[in-house]
Amino acid sequence: MSSPLQEAAQRVAKEFDYSDDEVFKAGKHFITQMQEGLLKDGTSMSQIPTYVTAVPNGTEKGVYLAVDLGGTNFRVCSIQLHGDTTFTLTQSKVAIPKELMIAKTAVELFSFLAKQIELFLKEHHGEHFESHLRRRNTVSSPTGYRDEHIFKLGFTFSFPVHQIGINRGTLIRWTKGFDIADAVGKDVCQLLQDAIDALHLPVRVSALVNDTVGTLMSRSYTSPGKTPTVLGAIFGTGTNGAYVEKLSNIKKGLEGAYDAKTGEMVVNTEWGSFDNELTVLPTTVYDKDLDTASVNPGIQMFEKRVSGMFLGELLRLAVVALYKEKLIFTDVAAIEAASPLNTHSGVDSSILSVAAADETADLAALRKEIEVQLAVKQASVEDAKAIKTIAYAIGRRAARLSAVAVGAIVVQSGRLDTTSSSASGEVSEDDIVDVGVDGSLVEFYPAFEEHMRAALRKVAGMGEQGERRVRIGIAKDGSGVGAALIALVAEGMDVDA
Ligand code: BGC
Repeated sequence: MSSPLQEAAQRVAKEFDYSDDEVFKAGKHFITQMQEGLLKDGTSMSQIPTYVTAVPNGTEKGVYLAVDLGGTNFRVCSIQLHGDTTFTLTQSKVAIPKELMIAKTAVELFSFLAKQIELFLKEHHGEHFESHLRRRNTVSSPTGYRDEHIFKLGFTFSFPVHQIGINRGTLIRWTKGFDIADAVGKDVCQLLQDAIDALHLPVRVSALVNDTVGTLMSRSYTSPGKTPTVLGAIFGTGTNGAYVEKLSNIKKGLEGAYDAKTGEMVVNTEWGSFDNELTVLPTTVYDKDLDTASVNPGIQMFEKRVSGMFLGELLRLAVVALYKEKLIFTDVAAIEAASPLNTHSGVDSSILSVAAADETADLAALRKEIEVQLAVKQASVEDAKAIKTIAYAIGRRAARLSAVAVGAIVVQSGRLDTTSSSASGEVSEDDIVDVGVDGSLVEFYPAFEEHMRAALRKVAGMGEQGERRVRIGIAKDGSGVGAALIALVAEGMDVDA
């Protein structure tokens, strides 16, 4: 007989079900919102044209700098592209101080970023940096150095930006807990360039890149075979995807310069805001509470059900509800006031991965995690079992929702419209639809892809045959390498940098 706690956990888990039928409908709605976003500005999904009109093929070469702002860490890297689908990457990483994420002025944050670039150059490119300083002091030209001595930098900035050129774009809104009102509406490349110039660094910000675009580019550079990558997706702190769209489908005005030869352009969907109106997204009482307490209620509604920043919080809210009903942790003396369970967004999503991975009878690993992460000592096996049930349901729903986005984009891309596959059902090399992914959920959450694939088959227009054609590959360090690749592409373009 199952206990009241297990019954309650099953009931909560059920609330996180997302049926095949719902997946089917959501896929259709996703395509509708994608198409709306291609027509005009101000729609739920921003569908931002990126001015990137070609994806690499692995033969590109050179040394580039890249920086990455978009999650908990700021990364600075230099990338050497070898031209044979391989690269060498040197990087440094620093946590972004919380107070800078909500600073009064953008300058505070961007000065910090420029400082990190300076430290990186001194440490990893000391010689180049020193010779640059010498040149500055001896040469009498206005800038003191020649163009070839300047590092080209790809700026991965993973927030919604209204892009007006390959190295220009104004911030639409912050996400993922950042909130600096002063920066909204400003050109983020210019903000970074100004901070770099204030330190007299030999660096030019030559490309502005969303992490999903970087992921798409880097997967395309490294992926096996000739098949071009169609989608780059992030399932990490936030979630989003960028895909290759036909130029003729992008009906809203393009303001900046771009090379139209390929007839295609990469579009940053900003799918985190898919269905903010909640027409097809599932909503439990926990989703409602999470949204109300967030810094941006009513926005990023898809992201709030899918990405790592929020899944731990959904679990926390569900567990706290069971605790209030005196169903869970009944043998535990008391939950400390300082426990993450009592703190808004206190629970890290990594506990979902531990819960999913622990298949032992006594759930030892999960109980350890409950003790360390939730600061609840002596949780029973029953307690852990209930948490596992709920965590599983939250993770599975996230993966099924992810399938809606991936599936709809594959359908919209038109890549499934042609086939050369044999009647035997074997997928030929030409029919592979390549998707590059990155982020903690795909990397660490067990069975994320499995759950995603099960739902992918149910997306309108996909079916089993379509799902089989989708090849999903991790694009590790995608945003860094991708930014370098776009900085390289930008060099060949006529943009005023
Ligand atoms: C941002 C996107 C970004 C995604 C993944 C979202 O919150 O709006 O621009 O690509 O997170 O980092």
